[in-house]
Amino acid sequence: MFFNKKNKQEIDMLRLPKHIGIIMDGNGRWARKRGLPRSAGHSAGADALKKIVIEANNLGVKYITVYAFSTENWKRPKEEVDYLMNLLLDYLRNAERTLSGENVVIRAIGSRKELSREICEQIIKTEEFTKNNTGIVMNIALNYGGREEIVNAAKAICDKVRNGKVKIDDIDDKAFSKYLYTADQPDIDLLIRTSGEQRLSNFMLWQVSYGELWFTDKLWPDFKPADLRRAIIDFQNRGRRFGGI
Ligand code: FPP
Repeated sequence: MFFNKKNKQEIDMLRLPKHIGIIMDGNGRWARKRGLPRSAGHSAGADALKKIVIEANNLGVKYITVYAFSTENWKRPKEEVDYLMNLLLDYLRNAERTLSGENVVIRAIGSRKELSREICEQIIKTEEFTKNNTGIVMNIALNYGGREEIVNAAKAICDKVRNGKVKIDDIDDKAFSKYLYTADQPDIDLLIRTSGEQRLSNFMLWQVSYGELWFTDKLWPDFKPADLRRAIIDFQNRGRRFGGI
């Protein structure tokens, strides 16, 4: 039973969001407020993430996609990029033990071309190690860009059309989705962004089309399981009409 103190409402377990997306923003500001280097904010962000994934899994959410590194994040100083990459590597290595023990399926989405061989190998290993788990599927968006994902899907379909394997008239919304990183996964129902910013920043542009957006001023390292539950309750109080009346 999950009870939210603030609005005295419980989560309706029968109407959970199937797929939650999270833009984990505010690590840098969290560190600055404490006079710490930005890297300390990212480390605290990785700790916060573990707790949130476990909570979502315990609640029974089926999919969670988290924005760990965008295609634009390469513009950051090399020192910060290197730190983030090492943090991700560690996270994937440890996840094999900790999150796999929690029955989490871990997948990386995004372009692997620019990633180091070490990270690519670790991704393959972690994905393989956790693939038969039956709990929540966690997509880590790593070197991910929503427009790039859509462009790549369009190119892959064009290729099939050129080779006579797909007919143009057979391409619809559902068929197109099969070419995305999230093929066979439901769309995002609830998108959470921390730190007070209210934009999508090229995250899951296709999958979030009918998603409910939920923003909080909390900085990502301060985001707690209770905040996740609050977001889910707010989500359940919204009227979703998907264009109908
Ligand atoms: C945005 O905060 C956060 C990121 C660009 C990185 C997100 C990474 C983590 C939460 C930790 C690592 C994740 C995994 C999966 C191990 P920001 O740096 O832009 O913060 P700011 O806007 O306050 O500067």
